Amino acid sequence: MSNPTPAKPRHIKVWDLPIRLFHWLLVIGIFAMWLTADVLDRLGLHMAIGLALLGLIVFRLVWGVIGSDTARFTQFVKCPRSILAYLKQPKTGVWLGHNPLGALSVLAMLTSILVQLVTGLFANDQIYNEGPLSDYVSERMQDLMSAIHQINFYVLLALIALHLVAIAFYQFKKKEPLVQAMITGQRRLQADEKVLNPNPRFAGWIAFLIAAGFGVTAWYLLHSHAPLVAQWLGLK
Ligand code: HEM
Ligand code: HEM
Repeated sequence: MSNPTPAKPRHIKVWDLPIRLFHWLLVIGIFAMWLTADVLDRLGLHMAIGLALLGLIVFRLVWGVIGSDTARFTQFVKCPRSILAYLKQPKTGVWLGHNPLGALSVLAMLTSILVQLVTGLFANDQIYNEGPLSDYVSERMQDLMSAIHQINFYVLLALIALHLVAIAFYQFKKKEPLVQAMITGQRRLQADEKVLNPNPRFAGWIAFLIAAGFGVTAWYLLHSHAPLVAQWLGLK
């Protein structure tokens, strides 16, 4: 009698295209920010790419409210008690999307990137490069923002290093193909692997257009109408 054929691994969609594009554009963007500021000393280009990154982050924040389940903050940001409960439970299956612990690192990175983008708007290099809103605050405030911009960059680097170590741990030690999922959108599961959280629902084109609209508007306003933005913010 022949052995029954082993059940085949299966795939479940976990990341939609907008999140994957966001992620890889973010990686390229952060690298470009470091390159233009610290290596090439091209601050004009640094600020142009920075404003585009700001639009990308605004898109992500809106997508985190109206986008697909795996992108939504309400789906992956958990209170400390739920994080502890997640850590204590025996590993009986796979968590689709950011697990409650990984979510902390995602939040920390997004916050640090946001701080970097906002402080950049008010920073100056004491020569002739200045962020689009720096003319509307005092010199002391410009210096403070520039200092935070410099220090927070190291915080961001540390968070990225932690992110990469954590991903490598899951990928190689726990044999969870997270990187493939961030590329293809599909999570590969062994035939006997259970999913711990409900299967995600995915948002459609209208939600995408709304989130993209917010991102493009933020970029356009800061790029072409900085005085108006300064006025709305009540700056001098
Ligand atoms: C500048 C460097 C990087 C930054 C700032 C960064 C940032 C992020 C952020 C913010 C997320 C959350 C995505 C979201 O929900 O919007 C994320 C997730 C992820 N990143 Fe990165 N990333 C970087 C580099 C990388 C690299 C080089 C890899 C792989 C080789 C990678 C693999 C992943 C994976 C697999 C996830 C999903 C994690 C999960 O399953 O919970 N990242 N990253
Ligand atoms: C995630 C995004 C960003 C990253 C990673 C980043 C990174 C950096 C780094 C590494 C420096 C060099 C600091 C030093 O001299 O040690 C710098 C300087 C600077 N950045 Fe950014 N930056 C970002 C966004 C922005 C944005 C959006 C703007 C404005 C539109 C901006 C404007 C500036 C200015 C004016 C300086 C010169 C200030 C100084 O030398 O202290 N940056 N940035």
